[in-house]
Amino acid sequence: MSVRVIYQSVTGNTKKVAEAIARAAGCEAEPVSTATVGQPVDMLFLGASIHGGDVDASVKKFIEGLDPALVKQVAVFGTGFPENKEKAVGITKGLLAQRGIAVTDKCYFCRGKFLLFNRKSPDDQDLKGAEEFARSALAH
Ligand SMILES: Cc1cc2nc3c(=O)[nH]c(=O)nc-3n(C[C@H](O)[C@H](O)[C@H](O)COP(=O)(O)O)c2cc1C
Repeated sequence: MSVRVIYQSVTGNTKKVAEAIARAAGCEAEPVSTATVGQPVDMLFLGASIHGGDVDASVKKFIEGLDPALVKQVAVFGTGFPENKEKAVGITKGLLAQRGIAVTDKCYFCRGKFLLFNRKSPDDQDLKGAEEFARSALAH
């Protein structure tokens, strides 16, 4: 089974979660800025966070460049303020759906530090949750 973990992260929160997912999946976490998908992928874990009210342009460009024929399904994850979970994962899910790429129902989101808020996040518990999410997504 071919698994990739690709993420966008400005301050390192989503990167930590991506690395936890990659650990559980047995692969490397790759930044979206340099990742390309040229071979078939059974499961692509794609992580992004909200900055200035939207996902980063690099995530949009990456999704636009994906070949739907090469990606069996995507599991979306992100970090930020809990109240913005639906926005953070929803934008990414919507962009993938527009390309006709299958997205798993389950996604993963946890707190991410921002200035003085959520200062310890993501914490060990969040990262364990990310690993469990990866194992669960791969088991289905
Ligand atoms: C410059 C900047 C802008 C942000 N803008 C938003 C925003 O518009 N809405 C929001 O909910 N969170 C916003 N956040 C909070 C981030 O989404 C949150 O800290 C997230 O965990 C960052 O993940 P990252 O470190 O992987 O980039 C912002 C954070 C930064 C640093």
